[in-house]
Amino acid sequence: FIHAKCLGELEYLHNTAVCVDASGTIVAIEPNCNQQKAVETLYARLGWSLDNVAITVARHELQFFFPGFIDTHVHASQYPNVGVFGKSTLLDWLNKYTFPMEASLSSLSKARRVYTRCIRRTLANGTTTAAYYATIDVKATNLLADLCYSMGQRAFIGRVCMDRLGPEYYLDESPDHAIAATRATVEHIRRIDSNFELVSPIITPRFAPACSSEMLTRLSELQKQTQLPMQTHISENDNEIKLVAELFPDGKSYADVYDTHGILNEKMILAHAVHLTEEEADLVAERKAKIAHCPCSNSALTSGVARVRWLLEKGIQVGLGTDMSGGYSPSILDAARQATIVSNHLIAPGGQLSCASQEERDKAKLSIEEVLYLATKGGAQVLGLADKIGTFEVGMQWDAQLIDLGRVPDDVAEDDYAIHGNLDIFGWETWDERIAKWVFNGDDRNTKKVWVRGRLVHE
Ligand code: GUN
Ligand code: FE
Repeated sequence: FIHAKCLGELEYLHNTAVCVDASGTIVAIEPNCNQQKAVETLYARLGWSLDNVAITVARHELQFFFPGFIDTHVHASQYPNVGVFGKSTLLDWLNKYTFPMEASLSSLSKARRVYTRCIRRTLANGTTTAAYYATIDVKATNLLADLCYSMGQRAFIGRVCMDRLGPEYYLDESPDHAIAATRATVEHIRRIDSNFELVSPIITPRFAPACSSEMLTRLSELQKQTQLPMQTHISENDNEIKLVAELFPDGKSYADVYDTHGILNEKMILAHAVHLTEEEADLVAERKAKIAHCPCSNSALTSGVARVRWLLEKGIQVGLGTDMSGGYSPSILDAARQATIVSNHLIAPGGQLSCASQEERDKAKLSIEEVLYLATKGGAQVLGLADKIGTFEVGMQWDAQLIDLGRVPDDVAEDDYAIHGNLDIFGWETWDERIAKWVFNGDDRNTKKVWVRGRLVHE
């Protein structure tokens, strides 16, 4: 069992048993359980009969369990567009590709196909929890909640609120309409999962340019009544930031616009945060709002590079997001890979590599251990679930993936290796080196099984 309990460090639990009860909760973690006998002794102590338990073991040296990945920002409704963005940047990309696709999902049969594939694909990549944006259509949004519930993915479901900027055919007619629609999704989810244990609603103003001042105020009131989480976008792209300044001439900054409308608080997840100023980042930290770092999208749409070290040093909690389809990859492993790579292009706290000292450059770089933390425990913090998921500890939920780094079986010739493994692990690597190979070369072929709350949801 391998997990990241704190930033920058992986803990390796060799020869360990993790016992999960029928509710999917971890009830015991025992070292020195490599022998069947030890497992039996442990089960006797727990008072469990071996007849009633299923034992899953890492079958060989190169298999291990890792906490499920947490995608803190993903648009399920844009899934058919992954990889399609041409040379566009944010605002023309929204008009050309995004709004038409989202609007088309008011067809429930199309929404069912798209959402089912999105969930299946993210589960196959080890994403056990996702904070989803759906569309403005309530029925299709509720369908996404139903599908996550039945397919077993832990999810936050956002009915998208927007009363301007979009085309006429894809807009809330009024803030009243957006509130009623959001409430309808909340009530729907309450019917399928009354305590929001697996699937929860999340209040979703798309972003300031697409929301009138009244819309933001009304959603803030709704949030205060319900205490639900919220998600939106912030400071992704230069033209977007200029647009916010034009639309909210009284706002001191993009972050200030959210703050003065009452939605910058500990329940808010802000995606991107690429171009925040020092004052804005300090405000985000003070309000305890969270940030979803989306490196794949930030590169694909030429938005820029978010300064993650700088945000972390201000005490802001950061997780990773695929931002499909701004990002082209459904994989949080890929997001982790890109988070470390793009950090190489930064100095802390910003500026050009060429004029930075070596020390400054090194400081901005995110390590493998750090990005894996962001992919799991960091994401759990962002979603307010750090006491439930993200690491393997007694009392937490079994949201996990079984990873296989691909061993050449004894009877396979060296020349046939390619069909058995994608990582070229020779056996002499240290565990840190094996994990680095996984992060840089791994994919869904390495994800053998995935569980959420103890339920096997992908194999
Ligand atoms: N800003 C507003 N809407 C969106 C969206 O759908 N994707 C991204 N990346 N940024 C946005
Ligand atoms: Fe997004």
